[in-house]
Amino acid sequence: MGVGVRLESGGVEIAGALVDDICRLYDEVFSEPPFFWRDDESDLHRQRLAGLFDDPTFGITVARVGADLVGFAYGFAVPADTQRWSRLTERLPQETTAEWPGRTFLLFDFAVRRSCRGRRVGRRLHDTLLAGRPEERATLTVQPTAVDTQVIYRHWGWRKVGQVEGGPDAAAPVFDVYLRDSLADLRAGQVSP
Ligand SMILES: CC(C)(COP(=O)(O)OP(=O)(O)OC[C@H]1O[C@@H](n2cnc3c(N)ncnc32)[C@H](O)[C@@H]1OP(=O)(O)O)[C@@H](O)C(=O)NCCC(=O)NCCS
Repeated sequence: MGVGVRLESGGVEIAGALVDDICRLYDEVFSEPPFFWRDDESDLHRQRLAGLFDDPTFGITVARVGADLVGFAYGFAVPADTQRWSRLTERLPQETTAEWPGRTFLLFDFAVRRSCRGRRVGRRLHDTLLAGRPEERATLTVQPTAVDTQVIYRHWGWRKVGQVEGGPDAAAPVFDVYLRDSLADLRAGQVSP
C-alpha cells in the first residue's frame, strides 16, 4: 500500500474543488498508449465532468499524496430509463438490462498516476467508492486496447458483457462493457480509509 496516500470520498464539493487537478491527471493518463486519444478529448472530458455535477447521485473518491492528486474514481447512478443496454453489440437477457432506481452504478472515470500504480491505490479507490454506493451492482466501459486494465477488472470481480460504439463525442470509437453483478461483498469488506 502506498505510504502517505490519503483517500477522500464525497460528491461535487470534492470534485468541484479539484476539477483542474482531475482534468490534468485524466489528460496525463489517457493521452498515453494504449488509449485512443482525440485532439479535442481534453475539452470534451472537462465538459463531461462538469455535466455530472448536476447529478445528485454523483460520487467520487480521490487519492492524494500531500496536496498532489494521484488517483480518482467517480461515477453516478444509471437512470432507470437508460438506453445504454440496447446499444450493445450483444443482446443481453432482460433480467440483465432491466433498470430501476438504485440498481446500477456507472463507474465513469477511474485512473491512477503511472508512478503510483501497482501499490494498491487503485484497489483502495475502487473498493472505497463502490462500498459506499447504495446501488446493487455496477457497470463501466473500457477501451479494448487497455488489456492490462481489463485483467485487473476481471481480477476484481467484473465480467465483460459486450461492446458498444462510442458515438461522436466519446473518448474512443468502441468500448468493452463490463458488469459487476453485486457490490455486497465490497460493502461487507473492511476497506481501509
Ligand atoms: C486500472 C488502474 C486504475 C489500477 O490502479 P493500480 O493502482 O495500478 O491498481 P492496484 O495496484 O491497486 O491493483 C492492481 C491489482 O491487479 C493485479 N494485477 C495487476 N496485473 C495483473 C495481471 N497481469 N494478472 C493478474 N493480476 C494482476 C494486482 O496484483 C493487484 O491485485 P490486488 O488488488 O489483489 O492487490 C490503473 O492501472 C490505471 O490508472 N490504469 C490506466 C487507466 C485505466 O485503465 N483506467 C480505467 C479506465 S476504464
